Amino acid sequence: MKDKLIIANWKMNGGVVANSKLLIAILKLKKALINSEIVICPPHIYMHQVKEYIVGSRIKLGTQNVNANKSGAYTGEISVGMLKDFNCDYALVGHSERRTLFNETDKDLANKILLLVQGGIIPVLCIGESLAQRENGEANSTIIKQLEAVINIVGYKCFKSVVIAYEPIWAIGTGKTASIAQAQAMHKAIREYLTRLDGKLFRRTSVLYGGSVSEKNASDLIKQKDIDGFLVGGASLMADSFEAVCSCSAGIKV
Ligand code: PGA
Repeated sequence: MKDKLIIANWKMNGGVVANSKLLIAILKLKKALINSEIVICPPHIYMHQVKEYIVGSRIKLGTQNVNANKSGAYTGEISVGMLKDFNCDYALVGHSERRTLFNETDKDLANKILLLVQGGIIPVLCIGESLAQRENGEANSTIIKQLEAVINIVGYKCFKSVVIAYEPIWAIGTGKTASIAQAQAMHKAIREYLTRLDGKLFRRTSVLYGGSVSEKNASDLIKQKDIDGFLVGGASLMADSFEAVCSCSAGIKV
């Protein structure tokens, strides 16, 4: 059985003091969790702080974003090489907030994935449908199109090292979660799509669920056959709720 993967996306939240308290709590928790991998994606300015806390532990460092170019005149941006300097292991790519607020295109996402894979950092490609798309019966076709758009550029072999996070946009930060059946159905569709491409190559691909994951729904969601972990926003900002989500995922009650 592969480890459950729990990724904390702090978004543009946190501060030196609050981060310290949260990190101390997560470090204590991680000792109890043997069959799960925890990744923390802080704002870039706090990567150094997080790295100092997690050094020597089994907690991994992730980034919320990376630039699609190797280096150069891109004011305010950071590169894969810089992330490598921090031993960053994971990078979110194509979060719906970046797609909509920062107009990231499939080409941008594909370039990021190529550079990340070359640099040995695991890309976490976020996909998900809007409420209108779901209501029009287009949820399935939307996420498959999002996958195809990137795979057509990077090639499916490069995609082998990518983690996928299914995040219905209408569930992000809204407190509305996909029902257990809806989430499992979408994860199954992703898995079937990958299997059609190459069953062997994608046998171990992790498909995470994200969108208002909390202590209330984590234990039911994680029991689903095709859900391998979570991308957690709001609930990752407080020690109690993040501990509860991680513990449910690892099958431990705290
Ligand atoms: P949420 O965010 O858990 O607050 O809904 C998830 C995400 O945006 O990754």
